Amino acid sequence: MNSLMLNTDGVQIPQLGFGVWQIPNDEAEQAVATALETGYRHVDTASAYGNEEGVGRAVRSAKRPRQKLFVTTKLWNSDHSRAEQAFDESLARLGLDYVDLFLIHWPVPQQDKYVQAWRALEKIYRDGRAKAIGTSNFTVKTLTRLMDETDITPSINQIELHPYLQQREMRAFHEANGILTEAWSPLGRGQGLLDDPALSVLSGKYGKTPAQIVLRWHLQLGNVVIPKSANPSRIRENFNVFDFILDAEDMAAIGAMNRNKRIGPDPDTFNMT
Ligand code: A2P
Repeated sequence: MNSLMLNTDGVQIPQLGFGVWQIPNDEAEQAVATALETGYRHVDTASAYGNEEGVGRAVRSAKRPRQKLFVTTKLWNSDHSRAEQAFDESLARLGLDYVDLFLIHWPVPQQDKYVQAWRALEKIYRDGRAKAIGTSNFTVKTLTRLMDETDITPSINQIELHPYLQQREMRAFHEANGILTEAWSPLGRGQGLLDDPALSVLSGKYGKTPAQIVLRWHLQLGNVVIPKSANPSRIRENFNVFDFILDAEDMAAIGAMNRNKRIGPDPDTFNMT
């Protein structure tokens, strides 16, 4: 399984992780345990998902040692001015003494507190309680301001990204600044995208499911990817993507599917607290 190097000294992130958004706390332990048994080593949760306890239980009872696993959590929008405290609360819910990656979940530009929050993340990072820090749903504008006004460049920016929303501008901006691109809803949440006829053709050609084709496309682009599934057979299906390679023509065919179509909120206006 591939890992990518973050801009943080020596920290590597497994490129394929397991997403747990919308998995209830009482189901998260089982889902994460299934994922870890399957071979996933990276789990992506958030304070707002309400399932850090379940995730933490699975991580703590995993067969692999903690240092072989990669755990991400995120700072919620209402916690920008109390980021350190909120981080401690996340750690306590997870039952861990560090996380591998801590992200600001949304910039919420209307609140105008993300720079202040980032300074707290820098401190958490310097204290070693998050091995790396980054952002989620940041735009060129909000990332530029963050980099201008603070010391540490985010290691990663996690954004909505799938074949219908390919985010070329953001990916180029990340690349130019040494920031990894991480894709949330990499499967476009399943319906619609996975039924697209262009993917059916590739599915037939490679003998892989449409979801596996899409995940392979992400991996070959260099994205970190965190498909979510609560279903054990799909959890395994989504991990079974390391035994084939999409050729350049087929990468281009998926590239041609872009519609700049968001499923989730627009980061410029999303301000749920
Ligand atoms: P389920 O949890 O029942 O498997 P995304 O990660 O893009 O947000 O997509 C998650 C959605 O896609 C969930 O509704 C999930 O449903 C579904 N899903 C996950 N993996 C697959 C797959 N391999 N094939 C079809 N649907 C999938």
